[in-house]
Amino acid sequence: MSNEVLRTIRERRSIPRFKPERIPDEILHEVLEAGRWAPSYANLQPWEFIVVRDEAVKARLSEIVEKVTIYRRGVQNADVVIVVAADPEVDPLHYREDAAAATQNMALAAHSLGIASYWIGIPEGGPSSAEALTKELLGIPDEFSVVAILPLGYPDPDYKPEKDRRPLEEIVHWDRFGNTRAL
Ligand SMILES: Cc1cc2nc3c(=O)[nH]c(=O)nc-3n(C[C@H](O)[C@H](O)[C@H](O)COP(=O)(O)O)c2cc1C
Repeated sequence: MSNEVLRTIRERRSIPRFKPERIPDEILHEVLEAGRWAPSYANLQPWEFIVVRDEAVKARLSEIVEKVTIYRRGVQNADVVIVVAADPEVDPLHYREDAAAATQNMALAAHSLGIASYWIGIPEGGPSSAEALTKELLGIPDEFSVVAILPLGYPDPDYKPEKDRRPLEEIVHWDRFGNTRAL
């Protein structure tokens, strides 16, 4: 069985290498729209998306993410970098999951429109953490949490991502943990 959604989910890969080509504003708009339509606990929508296109800001961001990813160059070379922040005061229970759902929606929408991305997870906390430095750089209020950074760009055709997944037989437990079976 296959359709466009299933293919997009299966074929999206993390790609940290981009061509120096501008993403048209209409495409960027659709990606951001996909983030807006993500589910969130009680529809609280605690997220904010900071869209970074300024070269100097991207350069500084790429230095900051060196703390959490080996692919800092991807941030520098991406046409657009979306920083996903969430307000724990809006959704104290699930702000990180909400922001993660928005991030994945944007990654999938981007892929469906021919745009590559890779998700940089930002761990919470610490005065000199990537999170704190990102907040300072972008003027994100202290009470927010920075959850993810999503660089976007047209994929470098020479980059060949290869990722497999654990088989369903191993992941799925029927009625009780440990009851796995061949599918
Ligand atoms: C919460 C989270 C954090 C991640 N953080 C990073 C990261 O810091 N750097 C990076 O290169 N990729 C990061 N990734 C991407 C994963 O490495 C990638 O999704 C995984 O290896 C599977 O590969 P695929 O996305 O190509 O299928 C992150 C993904 C998630 C969901």
